[in-house]
Amino acid sequence: MASKTGLKLVTRDNGGVDIAFRADVLAGLAQAQKAVPARWLYDDAGSQLFEDITQIPEYYPTRAETEILQRRGKEFAQLIGPDRAVVEFGSGSSVKTPLLLRAINPAAYVPLDISGDFLRAAADDLAVKFPGLPVYPVEADFMRKVALPDAVAQIPKLGFFPGSTIGNLVARTAVDLLRTMRETLGEGSQLLIGMDLIKDRQTLRAAYDDAGGVTRAFNLNLARRINRELDGTIPLGQLRHEARWNDEFARIEMHLVAQADMKFAVSGRDFAMRKGDSIHTENSHKFGKRSSATLLLAGGWTPTRRWTDTSQRFSLILAEATIPRSAP
Ligand code: AVJ
Repeated sequence: MASKTGLKLVTRDNGGVDIAFRADVLAGLAQAQKAVPARWLYDDAGSQLFEDITQIPEYYPTRAETEILQRRGKEFAQLIGPDRAVVEFGSGSSVKTPLLLRAINPAAYVPLDISGDFLRAAADDLAVKFPGLPVYPVEADFMRKVALPDAVAQIPKLGFFPGSTIGNLVARTAVDLLRTMRETLGEGSQLLIGMDLIKDRQTLRAAYDDAGGVTRAFNLNLARRINRELDGTIPLGQLRHEARWNDEFARIEMHLVAQADMKFAVSGRDFAMRKGDSIHTENSHKFGKRSSATLLLAGGWTPTRRWTDTSQRFSLILAEATIPRSAP
């Protein structure tokens, strides 16, 4: 796989350390509830492990969302039409994006990604599969407003944000992102967004703690990355992967739980954990029909159509940029 380390958006110090990674880890480990932002799970090894997760039997979201994309093509074509530019937040996955593009036959495709390598690989792949489709990759952090290419300035947009990636964000940040997407896409745009559904605890927990240990390896890879890149001495063998359902916030949380009292250093700073303490590494929020609508509305998007897979595990929602007007 292509290396992400040459990214121009990554800022490194003289020793080659990613400054933002170190700042996030040191700040997060200093908290009473230790936590590291989930984005740091995705180095090359972590990205590969996530790809593996999408293939394991217990991880249903990818299959459920793919099923919706496969079955609802005709409705997408009717509700979206062929005259929009598809703007994908995150470079296109090899399976989902072609299903959407095949269904609506859009005017252009604009993948946005922070990793130039992933972006070019995805764009090349799509260019081969869709020879007539204009593809304009943009290397950008879509958490901020992105200036889209002039070539699509006059074309109405469809934002595509599959995978329930929105569920990684706490409500406030999710709303910020939805509002930013609206600014990036403009008035008159639509958004097609995947949101995973609240369901029985066993199904949810198994999806994030699979029998084959792939998710465990994905979570532990973060501690391994800290040790490697930030001169860490975290005793990996004493950390246990845990997937917890937090009912108050309707989310699965991944934690690395200390199996014994431990002391370690990261970037020259000392930390301690008591047996049972954890490092919180990821949130994956789950939604109901109303909570997904509320989140979208708060972010400036009016839901217009909602699909679920046949087993009601996952939702794909079409929304339109809310027209500002006075209301009671
Ligand atoms: C890629 C963020 C949607 O939350 O389901 C999978 C990441 N973490 N297994 C998710 C993930 C553990 C995934 N997202």
